[in-house]
Amino acid sequence: MATTDRPAKAGLAVTPPMGWNSWNRFRCYELNEDVVVQTADAMVASGMRDAGYDYLVVDDCWQAHRRDGSGRLQSHPRRFASGMAALGEEIHARGLKFGMYLAPGRKTCAMIYDRYHGEALGSFGHEQEDLETLAGWGVDYLKYDWCRANRGGTGLSEGEAFRRMAEAIGRSDRPMVYSISEYGRTKPWTWAPEVAHLWRTTGDIAANWRSVMRIADRQHALAPFAGPGGWNDPDMLEVGNAGLSGIESRSHFMMWAMLAAPLMAGNDLRTMDEPTRQVLTNPGVLAISQDPLGRQGSRTARHRSFDVWHRDLADGTAVGILNRTNRAITARVAGGWLTTARGTRLARLGEGARNAWTGRPAPDGELTFSAHEMHLFRVRAA
Ligand code: GLA
Repeated sequence: MATTDRPAKAGLAVTPPMGWNSWNRFRCYELNEDVVVQTADAMVASGMRDAGYDYLVVDDCWQAHRRDGSGRLQSHPRRFASGMAALGEEIHARGLKFGMYLAPGRKTCAMIYDRYHGEALGSFGHEQEDLETLAGWGVDYLKYDWCRANRGGTGLSEGEAFRRMAEAIGRSDRPMVYSISEYGRTKPWTWAPEVAHLWRTTGDIAANWRSVMRIADRQHALAPFAGPGGWNDPDMLEVGNAGLSGIESRSHFMMWAMLAAPLMAGNDLRTMDEPTRQVLTNPGVLAISQDPLGRQGSRTARHRSFDVWHRDLADGTAVGILNRTNRAITARVAGGWLTTARGTRLARLGEGARNAWTGRPAPDGELTFSAHEMHLFRVRAA
């Protein structure tokens, strides 16, 4: 599939977008402009921005409960008292890009699932107007979220809803990364590459290992549909959020890098601990995520306790081995192979493989996997 040459989207999301989104940690009512500006500061101070996380996305619940007298969306008068244009300036002043959230039907998802009070906050019938409102605020990235947009007599289908907004973006002169989410309902990978830069493939992630693995296991056949300019989106990161151990956060991050997934951090960057920062900014894993070839990896084999993942890179291959079990297991590296303790071959590493996490040469001899731990290697082209 030709995923590279799409004029309307040219030059954006050439590698999987990276940034931060408010939803996973702050959800609806904890979101406010102080959190956003402090997060922007933390993105700079923590080294996240310099590691490539450049989009700061304000998710649902930024809105006032109703539109203004001329039908324009406005920001919540208390939580975003300074207004979104001012917020956009704060974000841009820190060398970051500004992302915002809209929904195509009559309601946003928080109106449905979080009892957010509001009237006509969805963009149905207001597509161009809402897009221009955001463009006027300096928005660089739009997350457009289905939220049962076919209800309330709109008659919208997913394809139609997301195309309408793509057209509105096309008519505006402000370039925007376009992130769509209909949770994989209509196999968006089959049509969204022509429409959007990223498309969700599943329902919402939660901060627990089961959720991470349930989503990871569903990405299996989707690799051929991704490429520069258009990415499968297995949802935002839960790295560093309560509910995942340090090891689980790291494995989650490595799998998302192997999947060429957008890397939208979803933790509280203002209070993040050093191990979490090291996961999110690890140069070896990020180099795999952002590899210029832009080919998505996938799980290539399953053994009793281990999953084996491969991703083609511009100059070799990334190989990930995940211990799915709840106990530690010792494996071995010998003769260019990673094997079980009993010698069953799991993955070929060849000569000169490096541990992507540490940057050091792959070990020779025993290699211990903690529960849910992934080891990631960078293997040279043969
Ligand atoms: C849906 C999306 C989430 C988030 C919320 C906001 O659940 O999948 O990522 O945007 O809506 O209400």
